[in-house]
Amino acid sequence: MLTRGARPLAALGGQVVAQAARPFATAVATKTPRLQKFKIFRYDPETDKRPKMQEYTLDLNTCGPMMLDAVVKIKDDVDPSLTFRRSCREGICGSCAMNINGKNGLACLTAIPQGPSPIEVQPLPHMYVLKDLVPDMTNFYNQYKSIEPWLKRKTPKAPGQKEYLQSKEDRAKLDGMYECILCACCSTSCPSYWWNPDYYLGPAVLMQAYRWIADSRDEYTTERLAAINDTMKLYRCHGIMNCTVCCPKGLNPAEAIKKMKAEVEANYNTDWSKVLMKEAEKKTAKAMAKSAPAAATQTAAA
Ligand code: SF4
Ligand code: SF4
Ligand code: FES
Repeated sequence: MLTRGARPLAALGGQVVAQAARPFATAVATKTPRLQKFKIFRYDPETDKRPKMQEYTLDLNTCGPMMLDAVVKIKDDVDPSLTFRRSCREGICGSCAMNINGKNGLACLTAIPQGPSPIEVQPLPHMYVLKDLVPDMTNFYNQYKSIEPWLKRKTPKAPGQKEYLQSKEDRAKLDGMYECILCACCSTSCPSYWWNPDYYLGPAVLMQAYRWIADSRDEYTTERLAAINDTMKLYRCHGIMNCTVCCPKGLNPAEAIKKMKAEVEANYNTDWSKVLMKEAEKKTAKAMAKSAPAAATQTAAA
């Protein structure tokens, strides 16, 4: 989880790194320093009574152009205790999401904004903080799990069948949703999610709920619509659009939520409560079947 960016490069072998570094070092020495201040949120729950903003100064000639390069440089050369998440450094894993100068985004896709004012870096807003720029994502992932984000079928596969096919038109309905990397930039910029994070699912999870409702191969559309038809889970969205404005992948969760609401309204029927009850019974039976062998083993051991 904690990162030290330059290590993998050093591990490539001293000779290769030394050769590559020489021209860069010469170039750096001849350039006028480009000093930039950063104010970064610091909080260690084990030692700090309250969070603080800590200031660092970097010469931008000595680090790469993106915000992730800057925080990696600070961690490697200035303050190894600075803690943040990162993995892919190319906008794919979603782990480097943070709030930069008041806007949520991926540090690896955000160019360092140069200027006289310090650049403020904070963790994603309205989340519990584990340390420095690392938010606790437990609630977010549990909400994602709750929408059952996998293909659910009732019809068994025919003998020899390997794939579930769909038309090009049906496949196109998933565009703009399957690309979501679950960085949570959108959910943590949504005022409705700030006020009701325990009950409202938020734009990222709602868009994924719709991604499976819109999938022609899934056979649990009615159950999914019935489950999402909830005042708190879905209808806390008031179309404020912060989510769409900040998505670093250019996706439109607000539009997906709008389409899902329209589908709920078009398909609503009073039998949905029975559908939900049946699903709940199935889940309880499954959970009991799972725990039964464990209970039997305990009894035998006693
Ligand atoms: S919709 Fe965009 S901002 Fe929201 S989680 Fe997905 S990629 Fe991140
Ligand atoms: S459109 Fe809905 S989900 Fe998006 S920011 Fe607004 S209230 Fe939140
Ligand atoms: S490090 Fe993976 S998205 Fe930024």
